[in-house]
Amino acid sequence: MKQNIKKIYRNICLTEWNNKEIINLKEDNNQLKKQVESLDNKIDLIIKDLETLRRNTNEIIYSQIFHDTIKKSPWFDERLSLSSGAIGYPMAYILFRTLDDIKPQAILELGLGQSTKIITNYIKYQKNVIHDVVEHDENWIDFFKRSVDLSKIQKIHHLKNYKRKYNGTELNAYKNFKKEFENKSYDLIMIDGPVGWGQEYSRMDILDIIPGCLKENFVILLDDCERIGEQRTIEMLEEKLKQNNIKYKSGYHYWGINNVYICVSENLEFLCHI
Ligand SMILES: C[S@@+](CC[C@H](N)C(=O)[O-])C[C@H]1O[C@@H](n2cnc3c(N)ncnc32)[C@H](O)[C@@H]1O
Repeated sequence: MKQNIKKIYRNICLTEWNNKEIINLKEDNNQLKKQVESLDNKIDLIIKDLETLRRNTNEIIYSQIFHDTIKKSPWFDERLSLSSGAIGYPMAYILFRTLDDIKPQAILELGLGQSTKIITNYIKYQKNVIHDVVEHDENWIDFFKRSVDLSKIQKIHHLKNYKRKYNGTELNAYKNFKKEFENKSYDLIMIDGPVGWGQEYSRMDILDIIPGCLKENFVILLDDCERIGEQRTIEMLEEKLKQNNIKYKSGYHYWGINNVYICVSENLEFLCHI
């Protein structure tokens, strides 16, 4: 009897000890879970920072390449401010190289700004080049015209912004874009407008005039292609080119803070790799 009581007592103590141990283990486990979660968050932040660093470093490298490339250029000598809303250095570089190497004769530019300054320098040197610029903001056009000496041959088309519906979403688009450009063709199309951030689809206007707007030899440049909206436009653009049996080469070779997409007629493939 005495022995049995002792056994029961020992079992009770052991169970209590076990319970305490389990509670302690549970607490430890919860703390470990919290630590892992916090480490996960820190790793996510580090990955984000690394991506920003990678992009900023590339931007700086491209700014160096750009500044070397424009040295002693016979046609380019302009003050540029490639900050925030403007094109970045990768686009400035590939735009300059396209103008310098290909010497396009008809240029369509969507989104007035710093890129327009580069093209304006080229127009003044090259002469008789068509340059159509599309811009939605009248105040910005007025301001720009007062600060940049445009050539008479350049035409700024003020097309108002409207919300276009596509696939159950809305995106910024230029009013009457198709009507204005469906009968024209270009060997350089540079797209950096309308404003496209935060949209499921973006900058789709060009699709309304493809392939009629392309000369036999062509270059299309599209800025901000790290965004899903622009990537969807690229997919649709390439699909249209294929449907129309237009041979092309393309790539995302020029990226810095923003990614630049390039699509060229096959014979100009080298532009995808310079
Ligand atoms: C992505 S930006 C395009 C700018 C242009 N391609 C450039 O390189 O500067 C899109 C729009 O931002 C507006 N924008 C650009 N620069 C601006 C500025 N400095 N001040 C006010 N609006 C500006 C214009 O309405 C332009 O169409």
